Amino acid sequence: MAKVMIIGAGGVGTVVAQKVAKVPQVFTDIVLASRTLAKCEKIAAAIGPDRIKTVQVDANNVSQLVDLLRRERPEMVIHVALPYQDLAIMDACLEAGVHYLDTANYEPPDVARFEYKWQWAYHERFEKAGLTAILGCGFDPGVTGVFTAYAAKHHFDEIHSLDIVDCNAGDHGKPFATNFNPEINIREVTQRGKYWENGSWIETEPHEIHKPLHYPRIGPRESYLIYHEELESLVKHFPTLKRARFWMTFSEEYLTHLRVIQNIGMASIHPILYEGKEIVPIQFLKAVLPDPGELGPGYKGETSIGCRIKGVKNGKEKTYYIYNNCRHEEAYRETGTQAVSYTTGVPATIGALLLVTGKWKKPGVWNTEQFDPDPFMEQLPIHGLPWHELHDVDLEV
Ligand SMILES: NC(=O)c1ccc[n+]([C@@H]2O[C@H](COP(=O)([O-])OP(=O)(O)OC[C@H]3O[C@@H](n4cnc5c(N)ncnc54)[C@H](OP(=O)(O)O)[C@@H]3O)[C@@H](O)[C@H]2O)c1
Repeated sequence: MAKVMIIGAGGVGTVVAQKVAKVPQVFTDIVLASRTLAKCEKIAAAIGPDRIKTVQVDANNVSQLVDLLRRERPEMVIHVALPYQDLAIMDACLEAGVHYLDTANYEPPDVARFEYKWQWAYHERFEKAGLTAILGCGFDPGVTGVFTAYAAKHHFDEIHSLDIVDCNAGDHGKPFATNFNPEINIREVTQRGKYWENGSWIETEPHEIHKPLHYPRIGPRESYLIYHEELESLVKHFPTLKRARFWMTFSEEYLTHLRVIQNIGMASIHPILYEGKEIVPIQFLKAVLPDPGELGPGYKGETSIGCRIKGVKNGKEKTYYIYNNCRHEEAYRETGTQAVSYTTGVPATIGALLLVTGKWKKPGVWNTEQFDPDPFMEQLPIHGLPWHELHDVDLEV
C-alpha cells in the first residue's frame, strides 16, 4: 500500500524499523536511511534484509535528501534522527512531495529552545502542497497530546489543569547513561523549568520544584518540574487550560552526575578549541557515554507516563488519570532496545500508519492533539502500549 522512508538508525529508528516491518499490509516497502550505513545494515539484518532497503544520507543536506526522496519515491518520511534535522527534512519533503512525521521539535544547534515556532511556520507551505506533517509523534510529545485530546473528547466538557507525569523506574546498571540521545536529553533536563499558569509562563530554576508522586505498579518517586515541548502546543490547542505542567523522575545518582557534568562545562553546547580543532563539549560527552540504543540488555523495571487532568463534566469537578506502563525487559525481548526507545518508536509507527491510511491525513503542519485521538488510542495496545484510565482519584499534583 505505501512505501515509507525512516531517517535515523538509533534506538528509536531500530524500534520503528521493526514495527513498520510487522505491518506489511500497510507498509509494503521500507527504506532505512541514516548517517552511518553500517547501523542501518545491522537493523535491517535483524529484521530480514529483503524487507528493508538501507541507504546512507546526511539529513542536514537538503539537496542530498531531495535526490534520495526523488529516487526512492516514498509516500512519507518517519524522521527519527535528531531534532537538528527537522527543517532540512521538512524542506526536502516539500520539494519532493512527501508527507512528514517526527518525534521532537526543531532545535537550532547553538541554542537550546524547545519551541515549535520554526516548524509551525511551515503550515501554509504544507497545506498548499497538499502534504501532511505530524509533529512530535513519540510518547512525550506524542501520546501525551493524544491522551489529552482523548480526555477532552470523552471525559470532560472543559479541561482546567494538566500535569504530564513521566517516570522511568528502570535500572540499566550503569553509573550514568541517558535513555535517548544524550545531547538532546541533557539539553532538555538542564534548562530552566517553566510551566503555564493563568495565561502566562512561570519560570523556575532547574529542578527547583519537586515532590514525590505515586506511579502505578511502581510506587512513590521524586518528580521534578521541568519544561517539556508539548506544553507549548497543548496550552495553545486547549485554551481552557489554566495550568499545565510536566514532571519527570530522576534518581539522586543521575542528578549528582548531571551537576558534575554541568559544573565542569561538559554540558556546554558552545564550541571550544581542543588541540587546534573545534569541538562541542556535549557532543564529545555523547561519544564517551553509553549508547542509549545499547542499554537494553539487563535493563530492569518499567516506565510509566501519563496525564493527570482536572476539569468539569456536566457541571461537576472531575479528576482523570490516563497512563501507560512499559517494561524494559519486554521492550528488549521484542526489539532489542529499552522502553524509552520503544515508547517513542511505537507511537511514531502508529502516526505513520494513520497518515498513510488516511485517518490522520490533512494538509498542513499539526501536533498530535489536533487529530481525532480515537483511531490512535485503538492502535496503541495492538502495537504494544496498552493504556489505563482512573477516574475521580487523588492526582497528588
Ligand atoms: N517524543 C518522544 O517521546 C521522544 C523520546 C525519546 C527520543 N525522542 C527523539 O527521537 C529521536 C531519536 O532518538 P534516539 O534515542 O534514537 O537517538 P540516537 O540513538 O542518537 O539516534 C539518532 C540517529 O540519527 C542519526 N543521525 C544524526 N544526525 C544525522 C544526520 N545529519 N543525517 C542522518 N542521520 C543522522 C544518527 O546517526 P549516527 O548513528 O551516525 O550517529 C543516529 O542513527 C531524537 O530526535 C529524540 O529527541 C523523542
